[in-house]
Amino acid sequence: MTYTGQQKIEWAQQYMPVLNAIRERFEKEKPLMGQRIGMALHVEAKTACLVKTLAAGGANVCITGCNPLSTQNDVAAALCGSGIACYAERGCTTWEYYAAIDKILDAHPTLIIDDGMDLIHRVHLDRRDVLPEIVGACEETTTGIHRLWAMETEKKLEFPVIAVNDTPMKHYFDNVHGTGESVLASIMLTTNMLLAGRRVVVAGYGYCGRGVAVKARSLGARVIVTEIDPRRALQAYFDGFDVISMDKAAPVGDLFITTTGNCNILTGRHFPLLKSGVALSNAGHFNNEIEIPWLEEHAAVIEHRDGIDTYVINGKNIHLLAEGRLVNLATPKGMGHPIEVMDLSFAVQALSAEYVAKHGCELKPGVHDVPSEIDEYIARLKLDAVGASIDELSAEQKEYMCSWNHGT
Ligand SMILES: NC(=O)c1ccc[n+]([C@@H]2O[C@H](COP(=O)([O-])OP(=O)(O)OC[C@H]3O[C@@H](n4cnc5c(N)ncnc54)[C@H](O)[C@@H]3O)[C@@H](O)[C@H]2O)c1
Repeated sequence: MTYTGQQKIEWAQQYMPVLNAIRERFEKEKPLMGQRIGMALHVEAKTACLVKTLAAGGANVCITGCNPLSTQNDVAAALCGSGIACYAERGCTTWEYYAAIDKILDAHPTLIIDDGMDLIHRVHLDRRDVLPEIVGACEETTTGIHRLWAMETEKKLEFPVIAVNDTPMKHYFDNVHGTGESVLASIMLTTNMLLAGRRVVVAGYGYCGRGVAVKARSLGARVIVTEIDPRRALQAYFDGFDVISMDKAAPVGDLFITTTGNCNILTGRHFPLLKSGVALSNAGHFNNEIEIPWLEEHAAVIEHRDGIDTYVINGKNIHLLAEGRLVNLATPKGMGHPIEVMDLSFAVQALSAEYVAKHGCELKPGVHDVPSEIDEYIARLKLDAVGASIDELSAEQKEYMCSWNHGT
């Protein structure tokens, strides 16, 4: 059975109670009236629900992709069909990718929602003509936040940006559970591999890496972690994982998953050491964690399948998934994070956009936290939606927690 893009959007919408509640309020209050929102995000069904929420709030919204391989064309077509300007296309070239980003900027956005910071980067370097109208922006992912901090350190950032990724209601759930489940689901659907008993090497034990490692172990995989941060490495060790260097992991791993947000994790130094039949995949934002140029130069490609390129080195088959792009979104079967996780992440985006529209002019250029009231409000909405209840602090407890006089 095939589903249309519109059906995919409707399917996602039914499992997004928090975003739906926000959309109902936006429809009544129109807090984004007069805003032109330019977005670069992975264009798939959950993102479409965010787009519709922002449009319901009165904004004029246009969107393109934030990765050449993560767009679902049927969802992009459904967005266009509902009157949203959507320029994303799966499999676009780098030139087409930036041409689409320019189309977003041609609409002179007042507010930007970015994922990975390519859009914000373009504004500051090549499209300064649109800078004066931008009130502020929101950034979705860790890699984008790294780039933003680097810009802020060099005093190059010219408008306020809300670090959506860094708020607990985003990264506690999206990076850990969303990446953890969707990365493994995508790998299993693409390769039909059994994870139980396999040696899975997870590079990076941050939020994403921890999610992937824990969930792979729960499926019976024998997980090895590689790290560069001694505290994160020790955390992985105490969580029960083997922690070794990539040089030592290369000859023993069956499946590699990079989640570092850094470059050159699996390189020409490692490829000749790998076992035949090994699968290499990346969950970090950019496709530079696996040194693909080295593979292209030194190894013959013997087969292209949907989502898998097979290279041969010294007679050994090495399978690269999704061209080294985020494996949970860029394989043909990749659907991205589970819906319930994106309900939270995109609720943060919607309310952060509302916050920028209201307060952007008062904020200094630079990276700003999501206000904790927004974070807590979303947590409460979600708890209500799942029927969970929590306790309230008593007056006595509040006083106790704020006092330095209560001791032994
Ligand atoms: N696939 C997805 O859907 C998805 C979702 C969220 C985030 N991301 C992306 O995933 C990446 C990681 O995000 P995160 O939130 O886990 O970041 P994080 O900063 O929490 O974790 C990254 C970890 O990688 C480690 N690391 C850095 N260089 C390394 C190296 N050379 N070898 C081994 N480990 C190394 C760091 O020490 C850190 O512990 C980012 O690019 C982020 O944008 C992807």
